[in-house]
Amino acid sequence: MGNFYYKNGDLFCEKVKIEDIAHEVGTPFYLYSAEEFKDNFTAFEKAFSGVDHLVCYACKTNDNLAVLRLLVKEGAGADIVSGGELFKALKAGFSPKKIVFAGLGKTEGEIKSALEADILMFNVESMAELELINKTAGQLGKKARISFRINPDIDPKTHPYISTSLAKSKFGISIVNAIDAYSVASEADHIEIVGIQVHLGSQITTIAPFVETLKKIIKLMGVLKNIGVNLKYIDLGGGLGVTYKDERPPGPEDLAEELIPLIKKTGCKIIFEPGRYIAATAGILVSKVLFIKETTAKKFVVVDAAMNDLARPFLYDAYHEIVPLKEDKNKEMIADVVGGVCESTDYFARKRSLPLFNEGDFMALLNSGAYGFVMSSNYNARLRVPEVLVIANKYFIIRKRQTYKDLIRDEEIPDVLK
Ligand code: LLP
Repeated sequence: MGNFYYKNGDLFCEKVKIEDIAHEVGTPFYLYSAEEFKDNFTAFEKAFSGVDHLVCYACKTNDNLAVLRLLVKEGAGADIVSGGELFKALKAGFSPKKIVFAGLGKTEGEIKSALEADILMFNVESMAELELINKTAGQLGKKARISFRINPDIDPKTHPYISTSLAKSKFGISIVNAIDAYSVASEADHIEIVGIQVHLGSQITTIAPFVETLKKIIKLMGVLKNIGVNLKYIDLGGGLGVTYKDERPPGPEDLAEELIPLIKKTGCKIIFEPGRYIAATAGILVSKVLFIKETTAKKFVVVDAAMNDLARPFLYDAYHEIVPLKEDKNKEMIADVVGGVCESTDYFARKRSLPLFNEGDFMALLNSGAYGFVMSSNYNARLRVPEVLVIANKYFIIRKRQTYKDLIRDEEIPDVLK
């Protein structure tokens, strides 16, 4: 658990006792460890220090400004996927020279903002998008640096909802059409081809898909060279998995060991877009047991967090380990952990063997720093929860809990209904 650990039976985040925060802030809330973000980022940095590289944190994973800021301070670049993320990344202080822009649905406005900010490159996903970027850059009197996102048709062997590199996927340009795409781009007046990008999917737990992909890219680059297209950057996207339950994913150092010899041959700068690897273990969701409920069929632990706060279990049947803030090693129970939302899919665990929880006890859902708060919603008119960041022996509220006023802030009753 790294920066989350038990001391004398209490769960700590760095040097802070989490129960103290729970009493002061109230539950539920997301809690992050600054040190864990840094450790994870540094592990990536260090692994690839032997080659020219850039680690662009995938902002979508956890885009709280304070989190982005702490990664800026570590020297990270940013992988963005929308105008909103561009706005936040710039606000947090990322250098535009370290920003790459992904996504298959970029709008003209978003393209314009990114050109004005002079980001490192667009990862282009279709010929229509290339055309729009070329036109927009022309209007601004600029040249847009681009990579094509190529779909290598490789099975990353992860959950189908987070696989993005199979031929049937909506993402990228089929590898069989790559040469044509690059030749069209090389003729475009306002485009400067700089690289190639792939993103295979997420929560990948083996190295093979990355190696296979890089080999395919290198082969493709050979052909591109013959038509006069030389690339500066190879962007291998994100996707490295973490341990939620019993997965044994490779670490960045394992990935580096396999990839570096291949990268060296290309002479290119390598870019990665890790999200989950950096953020997942850096966050937990803290919740309180409201009721213990027994039906004729089952025992339920009803908690004050719900599917609107952490969507991963209901969306992907994802596993998040559940631990008490006060450790009790002896007693156990088997139960479902559920929230109060009016949906049967509102669960965090099913038939899980758990420590014995009683009403009023606090629990932590581990590894919730990635795709946690960012995927939360106000469903059932539930308030979005606060985000709290621990730095050594202090904690900071980096997003406050919403109030009922926030629920209606953007809504209006038309005069005819008054
Ligand atoms: N780059 C691109 C272009 C991406 O689409 C993504 C994630 C990443 C990088 C970062 O991937 P990572 O290193 O985090 O695997 N909500 C899902 C995950 C969706 C991933 C979307 N794309 C989940 O909770 O599992």
